[in-house]
Amino acid sequence: MQILDGNIVSKHLRAQVQEEVAQRKAAGKKIPHLAAILVGNDGASMTYVGAKEKDCHEVGFHSTVLRFDASITEAELIAEVEKINNNSEIDGLIVQLPLPKHINEKRITETISWEKDVDGFHPMNVGLMFKGLPCFLPATPFGIIKLIEHYQIETSGMHCVVIGRSDIVGKPMSAMMLQKNCTVTICHSKTKDLTSFTRNADIVIAALGIPGFLNGDMIKDGAIVIDVGITRVADATKKSGFALKGDADYESCATKAAWITPVPGGVGPMTRIALLLNTLHAVKA
Ligand code: GUN
Repeated sequence: MQILDGNIVSKHLRAQVQEEVAQRKAAGKKIPHLAAILVGNDGASMTYVGAKEKDCHEVGFHSTVLRFDASITEAELIAEVEKINNNSEIDGLIVQLPLPKHINEKRITETISWEKDVDGFHPMNVGLMFKGLPCFLPATPFGIIKLIEHYQIETSGMHCVVIGRSDIVGKPMSAMMLQKNCTVTICHSKTKDLTSFTRNADIVIAALGIPGFLNGDMIKDGAIVIDVGITRVADATKKSGFALKGDADYESCATKAAWITPVPGGVGPMTRIALLLNTLHAVKA
């Protein structure tokens, strides 16, 4: 069994981005600038936005975080997004989700200029992705593709089972694996006899958000296991009081898998670098 190491691969890609930024600087070209909008004070969202800001600084990007109170109206937020759409200094914009209940996320996502939509959530980018045309790809599935490519994992003709059908991971992941010439099956919470699918999979991508769901009995020998889950589970032995658990039961899957992503240190760091790659792409577009 071998590890698909997101820490190593993301470090390698980060060095490439850093180098490209340095070259742009030396040539007097524009430095990539990512803006993030954060509404309210949800703990996880604040952590994610803080991490994105730190990642930008590490590679030499400019970064702006706009923070708004949870009481901001939808109309006010739309006006803020439009201001950024029209600001040529800013190349990429993300609006951290979830938004407060009184704000329609779909409306906000569709207000972001698709040419600055480095999350790849705008319907224009979703459509381009399904057609296999150049676009911004959502960070988690894009990061997984970069990880698979780094390790030169054969995808052509392989049966890939994606568990989960979210707009952010499951759906775009299946489109991207199809583009990589996999035969793709999408399973979800209503799938009957899910094990009959996963046991036939050459590649299993678990993105359902249930810690330890996929176990060794559910996969075939030599399978490739990509674990997208990161659920906080109480753990008194940890200083933080919690541990991060993936959707795969690592111990049992590792006895059968040919390749597996650890949690943490697998998909997570790849998601972070993918956003930087999209932002670099935005400044070049
Ligand atoms: N909330 C959880 N994941 C994401 C993401 O990838 N982008 C944004 N904007 N919000 C999120």
